[in-house]
Amino acid sequence: MASRSLDGGTAMNRLVDRHHLPATTDDTAPGRRQFIRLVGGGAVLAAGGTLAACSSTLPAAALQPWTDAAGQADTRRFMLAHALLAPNPHNRQPWIADLREPGRIHLVCDGERLLPETDPHGRQILIGCGAFVELAAIAAAQRGLAVTIDWFPGGTPAAEALPKGTRVATLVLGEAGSAPPGALFAQIARRHTRKTAYAAGKPLPGDLARAWAATAAAFGLRSGLVTDEASMSPIRKITREAYEIECTTPRTWLESARLMRIGPDAIATHRDGISLNSPMVRALYTAGLFDPMEVPQRGSSSLQRVMDRWVPFETGSGYLWLASSGNDRLAHVASGRAYVRAHLQATAAGADMHPLSQALQEFAEMRSLREAVHRAVGLDPAAATLQMLARVGYATEPTGPSPRRELGALLRT
Ligand SMILES: Cc1cc2nc3c(=O)[nH]c(=O)nc-3n(C[C@H](O)[C@H](O)[C@H](O)COP(=O)(O)O)c2cc1C
Repeated sequence: MASRSLDGGTAMNRLVDRHHLPATTDDTAPGRRQFIRLVGGGAVLAAGGTLAACSSTLPAAALQPWTDAAGQADTRRFMLAHALLAPNPHNRQPWIADLREPGRIHLVCDGERLLPETDPHGRQILIGCGAFVELAAIAAAQRGLAVTIDWFPGGTPAAEALPKGTRVATLVLGEAGSAPPGALFAQIARRHTRKTAYAAGKPLPGDLARAWAATAAAFGLRSGLVTDEASMSPIRKITREAYEIECTTPRTWLESARLMRIGPDAIATHRDGISLNSPMVRALYTAGLFDPMEVPQRGSSSLQRVMDRWVPFETGSGYLWLASSGNDRLAHVASGRAYVRAHLQATAAGADMHPLSQALQEFAEMRSLREAVHRAVGLDPAAATLQMLARVGYATEPTGPSPRRELGALLRT
């Protein structure tokens, strides 16, 4: 696929300037409207026929784990094949599963798959690990086995240290018939983080809101659902500003840029990170007109373009938040367990959930917005820590799964 008829000179520069992409969105299925907006007023004519022939569909190999999970005969592999479908920051999939001891799974945090700039203490990475363990336990129950979880058997990492190589949990499998199957298992392979626009103001069912509150409480967390316009407005403003900070801070932008997988070959090779697969983006990248390593500058039209792509993230029915009183490592994994259950509950109810984590991040430039987002949801930042903030509602476009590495890549046998 190539861009056929790009014109040169000034128009070319305009195009380069326009095509910074956001750090945290997947770009797997943009519609024609987006294509037209990107091209902008016909100043540049990009390869109509060739682009139309390209597909945004992700390569099948990268999605295979979503359909393979159910077919695993061995119980521990069945558990792990479902666990690896967990939501996790930047789709880093930071997990290693050691199966060398029969009847147990040792989950180790993969030190090569951390986000040291945007997640300097590994809080979000451990939330992803908590979600992984929860899905493993739900899958074990599906096979009739209860799981005993020993968290951080080798000790917890220091509060501000990255959990590099940390043994996060040992899962010990119970006897046959020790657990009944749960209602949420069926949602594991149906759950996806939809990053498109959500329907405006469509109310969420009261049952779902109550289920989310009960889930958070079951894991010792506080939670809230913000749905009134007066309270949502400051959250929108803070999350937007936080995103702008992440995008204009060179080291945090570049951390995401390095994880951009552009086009089917890169997506199929890595099966992680941020998938960018729209025909337009691929054409620009191939033509050298989109350079992910160029950091958007404040006041530039390139930053404006990045922020334009944030706009759909301000749509939805509300914001769900989860918070802990302390901020220790057990709170992080508990937040992951609660978050993934809440997302499965949303999936069962036909609703969608999309975390917006920038304002919660611990790097220095985010400090004042981090405090502001706590106050915006009614928390004292000195007394509680927001662990997850997600917009919730109903996606207006159906989007499919994100890539996953194959099960074998995680295993130590
Ligand atoms: C702790 C955590 C933080 C996340 N933060 C964001 C975020 O700020 N923006 C975003 O678009 N997605 C965020 N996500 C969602 C991930 O991008 C998503 O789970 C991952 O790409 C895998 O896709 P899936 O959930 O559809 O399987 C977050 C997920 C977790 C667990």
